[in-house]
Amino acid sequence: MISDNLNIIIRELSSEENVPYNLLLLADPEKEMIDEYLESSRVYVAILNDTAIGAYVLYPLSNSSVEIKNIAVKEEHQNKGIGKILLSDAIREAKEKRFQSICIGTANSSIAQLYLYQKAGFEVTAIKRNFFIDNYALPIYENGIQAKHMIMLSKEI
Ligand code: COA
Repeated sequence: MISDNLNIIIRELSSEENVPYNLLLLADPEKEMIDEYLESSRVYVAILNDTAIGAYVLYPLSNSSVEIKNIAVKEEHQNKGIGKILLSDAIREAKEKRFQSICIGTANSSIAQLYLYQKAGFEVTAIKRNFFIDNYALPIYENGIQAKHMIMLSKEI
């Protein structure tokens, strides 16, 4: 699917455009949590044939550090390398905005995500114990494992 990927344009969403909740909810099942961080974030979308097929959200933690609060690829476009493209675009954008480090959190059960982020140079820096139990109304399971703890990974850029 390299040829499809070459036609993807990644750009910041303007304030007049609709937030792609269909995508953001793939990474974060609670809209209230999404709305909370969107207030202080920038949203980026991956467009293929006029349709948003991927998105990521950058949320500044300080002048030097930024967090990827959400990264998602539409189900039918997953496993074609687009997540990797979005992640490297998030790193490029964070560098351009003069942040010195970038971090991302994922669940202990998110095996593919832990693989993707570590392969891109992110290292585990903290664990927020019981984050998913304390902050989400319903239990979340992935790969047959309960999502309990948030694993925080960071990369100097
Ligand atoms: N276990 C291990 N590795 C896996 C895997 C799995 N179950 N599924 C995919 N991978 C690997 C791929 O083989 C690829 O590795 P490679 O480059 O060595 O071949 C790598 O993960 C990245 O794959 P890619 O195709 O770029 O990812 P994607 O386009 O599917 O996007 C997500 C990744 C996570 C953004 C996408 O799956 C998604 O939107 N998931 C739902 C939302 C979500 O969970 N977001 C993250 C919240 S923390």
